[in-house]
Amino acid sequence: MAVVSKALVKLGSISIVSSLLITATMTTALANSWSSDLSVEQRIESLVAQMSLVEKIGQMSQVNAGDGDSVQDLGDAIRNGRIGSILNQVNRDTVNELQRIAVEESRLGIPLLVGRDVIHGFQTVMPIPIGQAATWNPDLVRDGARLAAIEAAAAGVNWTFAPMIDITRDPRWGRIAESPGEDPYLASAMAVAMVQGFQGDDLTAPGTIAACAKHFAGYGESESGRDYATTNIPENELRNVHLRPFKAAVDAGVVTLMASFSDLNGVPASGNEFLMRKVLRDEWGFEGFVVSDWNSIPQLATHGLTGNDRESALAAAQAGVDMEMASHTYIEHLPALVADGLVSEDVIDEAVANILRVKFSLGLFGRPYVDADSQPTVDAQEKLETAKAAALQSVVLLKNDDKVLPVSTDRVESVAVIGPLADTPYEQLGTWIFDGDPGRSVTTLQGIRDLAGDDVDVRFVQALEISRSRSTEGFNEAVDVAAGSDVVVLVLGEESILSGEAHSRADISLPGAQAELVHRIRETGKPVIAVIMAGRPLTLTNIINEVDAILFAWHPGTMGGAAIADLLFGVESPSGKLPVTFPRMVGQVPIYYSQKNTGKPPTPETAVLMDDIPVRAPQTSLGNTAYHLDAGYTPLFAFGYGLSYAEFAYGNLTLAASELPMGSSLIVSAQVTNNGDVTADEVVQLYIRDLVGNVTRPVRELKGFERVRINPGETVTVQFELHTDDLAFYGRDNRLVTEPGDFHIWIGGSSETDLRGEFSVVDAG
Ligand code: NOJ
Repeated sequence: MAVVSKALVKLGSISIVSSLLITATMTTALANSWSSDLSVEQRIESLVAQMSLVEKIGQMSQVNAGDGDSVQDLGDAIRNGRIGSILNQVNRDTVNELQRIAVEESRLGIPLLVGRDVIHGFQTVMPIPIGQAATWNPDLVRDGARLAAIEAAAAGVNWTFAPMIDITRDPRWGRIAESPGEDPYLASAMAVAMVQGFQGDDLTAPGTIAACAKHFAGYGESESGRDYATTNIPENELRNVHLRPFKAAVDAGVVTLMASFSDLNGVPASGNEFLMRKVLRDEWGFEGFVVSDWNSIPQLATHGLTGNDRESALAAAQAGVDMEMASHTYIEHLPALVADGLVSEDVIDEAVANILRVKFSLGLFGRPYVDADSQPTVDAQEKLETAKAAALQSVVLLKNDDKVLPVSTDRVESVAVIGPLADTPYEQLGTWIFDGDPGRSVTTLQGIRDLAGDDVDVRFVQALEISRSRSTEGFNEAVDVAAGSDVVVLVLGEESILSGEAHSRADISLPGAQAELVHRIRETGKPVIAVIMAGRPLTLTNIINEVDAILFAWHPGTMGGAAIADLLFGVESPSGKLPVTFPRMVGQVPIYYSQKNTGKPPTPETAVLMDDIPVRAPQTSLGNTAYHLDAGYTPLFAFGYGLSYAEFAYGNLTLAASELPMGSSLIVSAQVTNNGDVTADEVVQLYIRDLVGNVTRPVRELKGFERVRINPGETVTVQFELHTDDLAFYGRDNRLVTEPGDFHIWIGGSSETDLRGEFSVVDAG
């Protein structure tokens, strides 16, 4: 299937000169004023035919325009056709001036792509992507990306380096903050939502920007979560897990992909022909272009795949990296590599055509400039509402003993708000917020104050300067304030700098003296509610029994504090669900719900914990199953988990048939009743297990989910349609197959649900 075609077919109205009329001396002004009935592909062909080799390689070069290079120098290079794209320039006037030089003063008048990391919002910041995945709400995620696109486009940006859709099962990895988590199905839904949000229905429309699915591929498996580290992923696992969200993004019309920094099975992604030619082009029919990551082409030599920059340029071009980001190996070495016959000009022409196709798809030839008047505008209030809705739905209630939450303003006269992240407008925004405006942030303290009004006395003690602080100097004051209040809200976690690119951690517990702070506050005997903001799952084992409730808020963005206040006081019920497993101890990593069964799966009977082993017990007395003596085999919190103020009961799992002929669909439903006394959202999840496969299958796989709002006392029936294609997996020969056989199916509120049915896939009669 032609992938980018969705975005590309809408290009009918672009005016450009007929190939018959094009001459090498044609001026740009002419190029942009002539019209013709040529198709986009014909226009691309005619443009490529006129380009010199240097102009072609110029299109394949993206230059950093944010590092103080004078507009003059950039302008000269653009004028000479040596730059096809810039990144990191978000001053609209500067962008327009550079665009003007490209369009009016370069020989062929080809407009620039203007790239920027618009990862989870532009000025208005949504929750970090792992938090957005916790909403399990693709519509909301789409709205957030749409808003980001509108804000970014107004600054002159026409291309974002998002969505990041690396599956990861390692919370030590700092970039888990940017990822949609551990599951390919959920990640695919997030990928599609973000692509749709950024690109809209019509990429030529103002307020839309090109998306970039990254990092292709396997980056999330970096060894021990060390950023940029090696990944070794068997092809079968790559196809069944890591490539799936990329395929979904390509099918949704994403126009660009970014090659990963990482080494995949011995061939770093930026030189990996298997990924970019075999899978992406030959199998998926991708028609957009691939950009390298920042300097990832010269780094091929650092990896040891090549000996120098020239060999790196050769490897990357041959592998199918169409554009080089930041470094200059293409512009410096490709001309000679072509002259020496090592890179065929066809390879260059193909890369240039891929890039021009995206420029056409954006309508840049017809509308190269950004003027404020023609941009869609969004009311400031609406922006904040979108950010708040996303934050509200991203927060996961991990624990709520004795229903300490929600806090009732009728029963509580004073609240102590304590902790290093309670009033930090910047930190709550999380990683990758180049353009985020902390001035718009509502902090938790402010949110609580706004909501509590005059009814409740809100007392604040920061206690620790930042999340990493070890000084306990402020603890006595915190303890005094806590002891004199009715309830304590501890706002803990990680500052934003502790996650994101190159910010991995080996110990993922609360940093600094925060655990000690929890302990001291616990001793006051007051109800303790922890609000935790972090860029990753944390190991909470050492504090979990010292707090009554935990709201896990990730880095919730601009409106985080307003959303958290609503949740604390019960204006809304928490409804986020974990997009990634929380380990008890870091040594359990990787631990994820869709693991394989192994030949010796642990059970409660066989998994004897270290402390329970009798003294001098013989080796043979243990169950010999796959678990850790000190951690057991279960996580602290499972994928899909998240509590509510409502009480949801699942029942009546109904399958329309027990046999599913190949090529058909099964309707499966369950009833969900709200036995609580508040209206709340629940994310209803569908899992399957394929009992026997020609390669072993995970013990559970997510195959559907639906967010539903249910009133107290109400029962809703949630129905899913499961096609046999949805059960397909890559088998031993790495081809997609659905095999006849027996399946288990579950519906419930987390991956641990036990409401189970069975069906069989049979050959079509
Ligand atoms: C490096 C990061 O890996 C990538 O995700 C980002 O888009 C580029 N730098 C550009 O900033």
